[in-house]
Amino acid sequence: MDFIMCGIIGFWNIEKQAFPVIIDSLKKLEYRGYDSFGLAVLSESGSLNIEKQVGKVSETKCNEVSGKIGIGHTRWATHGKVTEKNTHPHIDCSRKIAVVHNGIIENFQELRNELLRTHKFFSETDTEVIPHLIEDEIREGFSLKQAVINTGKKLKGRNAFVVLHADTEEIIAFRNGSPLIVGLKKINGFSEIFIASDIQAFLHETKEVMYLDDDQIVIIKEKPEFYDINTNEKIEKRLIKIDIDFSPVTKGDYAHFMLKEIMDQKQTLMKAINQNDRELMHVAEEINNSRGVFFIGCGTAARVCHTAEYVFSSIADKHVNFVPASEFGNYKHFLLPETLVIAISQSGETADVLEALKIAKEKGSKVISIVNVQESSVSKISDYVFHINAGPEKAVASTKATTSQIAVVILLAYACSGMLREGDRLLVDLAAKVNDMLNPRYSEHIKNIAEKIYQKENMFIIGRGVNYPMALESAIKIMEVSYIHAQGFGGGELKHGPIALIEEGTPVIVLVSNDVSRDEIISNAIEVKSRGAKIIGIAPENNEAFDYWIKTPDTSEISSSIVNLIPVQLLAYYLGILRGHNVDYPRSLAKSVTVK
Ligand code: M6R
Repeated sequence: MDFIMCGIIGFWNIEKQAFPVIIDSLKKLEYRGYDSFGLAVLSESGSLNIEKQVGKVSETKCNEVSGKIGIGHTRWATHGKVTEKNTHPHIDCSRKIAVVHNGIIENFQELRNELLRTHKFFSETDTEVIPHLIEDEIREGFSLKQAVINTGKKLKGRNAFVVLHADTEEIIAFRNGSPLIVGLKKINGFSEIFIASDIQAFLHETKEVMYLDDDQIVIIKEKPEFYDINTNEKIEKRLIKIDIDFSPVTKGDYAHFMLKEIMDQKQTLMKAINQNDRELMHVAEEINNSRGVFFIGCGTAARVCHTAEYVFSSIADKHVNFVPASEFGNYKHFLLPETLVIAISQSGETADVLEALKIAKEKGSKVISIVNVQESSVSKISDYVFHINAGPEKAVASTKATTSQIAVVILLAYACSGMLREGDRLLVDLAAKVNDMLNPRYSEHIKNIAEKIYQKENMFIIGRGVNYPMALESAIKIMEVSYIHAQGFGGGELKHGPIALIEEGTPVIVLVSNDVSRDEIISNAIEVKSRGAKIIGIAPENNEAFDYWIKTPDTSEISSSIVNLIPVQLLAYYLGILRGHNVDYPRSLAKSVTVK
């Protein structure tokens, strides 16, 4: 099955060529996938001009196609090869219907097998069933609008797709699960209309938007018309003006976004803790009065959720649960209207998080979110939102958003304990220490250590307490950027099995904090050192167990999660560089994972 995660754009106007507009928007959507891209434009003669390319839209040349109405797509595939024929748009047998799609058609095999009796398929994708289904509906006498609705209703799973038909001068989009937003621009009295997976695709053109909701379609032609797919009734939408700064983000003097974003942490912690005290206290009260709190997130954000268990236990004497968003469905029996679900997400678009929040909402539980991207799908469905204000995070590997999320979690825990002032002071102090820490000498020292170990194929990271989830996060960072196999463990766990993997020279990173766990984690370091490991100690003080020492500021145990993670982010960066990888866009990944 071809699971597709991607960015979609549609552009309608009567004045200018669609090609450059679509290409520009696809570049903005690249964070959703950068394996391949394609577009279909309606030509003057009423045929579809289609172009597809394997590679990143920002780095790959694409033949220009002529026409004023068009759709485009940038793809990330986990199943089904990255080939031109699997690249969107996909078409029907008559080559009149082009479709771009985001989501997973869970019943695609069934639909495809049925369609194969009468249709010829050109790709291995699940998406391709859509144009063929529409083709059948039209053959049966339905209008394009009805054919799109009927087809959308046949698809199982979370999907959004946009259709361009050669015989009509309209674009039709269907949404059930994956986001789609319409952007409107009036220029010299003429309309320009955009439809995209994310406002970022057209924010450089217009800030006026209308949201397409689930179970709705929009027909784009001169002006957008929205319909409910179940009642077929027309829906009036409010025009919303988005108040977001969309100035282009650059790397500045840095070679990569990842390095810039690591360095941004000199300021981002202060921005993260600049939250409204009244809202913090209000949410703290909700947490204190709740029956069960679940922190949910994916990947790195899941590690932050895991950290929350330690943070709340230590600061607020409160038990909160962490569940990876993709596993949250298994916990739905515990959800009550008094349960709080706290979602952590940089993008606010992660499909597993959205799915988990849907479950929470169905159960009547309140949803709080900690997000970076404003106007994201997660923020829109949350009862309360804390924006971490880290600014755009472009590199696929999350760095500044992670530490900002931890800072907000710490602040919330202090609010719950009735000590918000103390929490604030502690975090201001921490931000100053991080600012001092991130200097060129520090980076150089870490780069030198990276030079000693970059050729290794296995690495381990250990930590205790709050540094246990940070060890897990460190492993994610190293793996995704350097492609070195890295695993994180609780310090006490190594001797129960993984220690068998330690060989002469295996790098083991030890995350130390100056608290009761210090002696224990040092003992764990010595255990692996005796078996040949090379120890990289990340700690406020040096220790004879360390082969290399990366000094961190002496902070509280909880704050050590932040100061210990930052040097690992730098180490991961340099390991990736030394191994010759594109650290901003690692292979097989996307910034925002918009499929389950
Ligand atoms: O946008 P989100 O925070 O919801 O993304 C969650 C994960 O996909 C993300 O943290 C991923 O693990 C990063 N590549 C890690 O650096």
